[in-house]
Amino acid sequence: MAAEPAPLSLHFPLLQRFPALSALQPIPLCNLPTPVETFPGKATLWIKRDDLTREDQGGNKPRKLEFVLADIRRRDADRVITLGATGTNAGVATALMCQRENLACEVITFPQPDSDIVRLNQQLMRGAGASLTARGSLFAAALNWYLHPRRLDRKSYFLYAGCSAPVATFAYVNAMLELAGQVDAGALPAPAHIVVAAGSGATVAGIIAGAALVLPAAEIHAVQVAPDRVGPFTACHPQVVEKMVATVWQSLRTADASLPEQCPTRWQWHEDQFGDGYGVATPASRAAISEASQSGLALETTYSGKAFATALALTKQHRSPVLFWQTFARGKIPQA
Ligand SMILES: Cc1ncc(COP(=O)(O)O)c(C=O)c1O
Repeated sequence: MAAEPAPLSLHFPLLQRFPALSALQPIPLCNLPTPVETFPGKATLWIKRDDLTREDQGGNKPRKLEFVLADIRRRDADRVITLGATGTNAGVATALMCQRENLACEVITFPQPDSDIVRLNQQLMRGAGASLTARGSLFAAALNWYLHPRRLDRKSYFLYAGCSAPVATFAYVNAMLELAGQVDAGALPAPAHIVVAAGSGATVAGIIAGAALVLPAAEIHAVQVAPDRVGPFTACHPQVVEKMVATVWQSLRTADASLPEQCPTRWQWHEDQFGDGYGVATPASRAAISEASQSGLALETTYSGKAFATALALTKQHRSPVLFWQTFARGKIPQA
């Protein structure tokens, strides 16, 4: 029997805390709250199971799409045009949402090292009816997306890589309020460290802003997995995250003028797992994926393996609780 959906106040604690943000009208697409649990054999290492956000394809994208879909509906768009790597998880989540919502979907891709997840995700995007346009480099894909012939078409919604439209950052502010509720309910101790992969940066930006609201003693660790520059543009870089934090914080302040002018942040940027590039495993991430898989935690080489390597290192360094935010879920081929 399917679980009863959580009441909206549990699903979107953000709207309880900031009633003015109800205007965003996010659409529930996820099973929330996601569970928290300890990692077997490591009493101070906790996992936030965002792999369980949805049954068809979980991970961090469905949380973002709750806010993005509302934006798409507000603009009355009938087509979504996004970009990502050949095996983009965001592309799969977007394609599945577009299929459910009867929206056309185009995904412009750039190459990444081949893997079973990459092949699976290509199959899932095609299976959901998305049209895929392969470009030879990240720069070429980004250029195609920015200068797309439909750029000025009001019915086309241009969704940045990682499902990271500006409204997507709210999703992880909401997720932090959800986590704080779980701490209050005694499901886990207040984490001293929270570790998450940073690609477009929207997930960690939401976590940083959310921590400032509800878990101010937590130190947030962003693990860089993508290049810091794409042609002339700054990409996976702390400045991009800072800008996203400042933008979402301004919206929170507009909803609650008692907040301080600047978001009080406690966070670190980790570049050591970037290694030889996007989607290329490092020795530490390979070891972390193998350790996780022995305990039934499924990770991949592009994002979650690299972040988990950092979480394991922090667990060795500190006695205080470390929370690894599991943002990856393997998609499932729909049964005919
Ligand atoms: C599994 C996984 N984890 C983490 C991320 C990074 O999220 P963000 O783009 O919000 O930084 C992504 C983004 O594509 C992802 O697919």
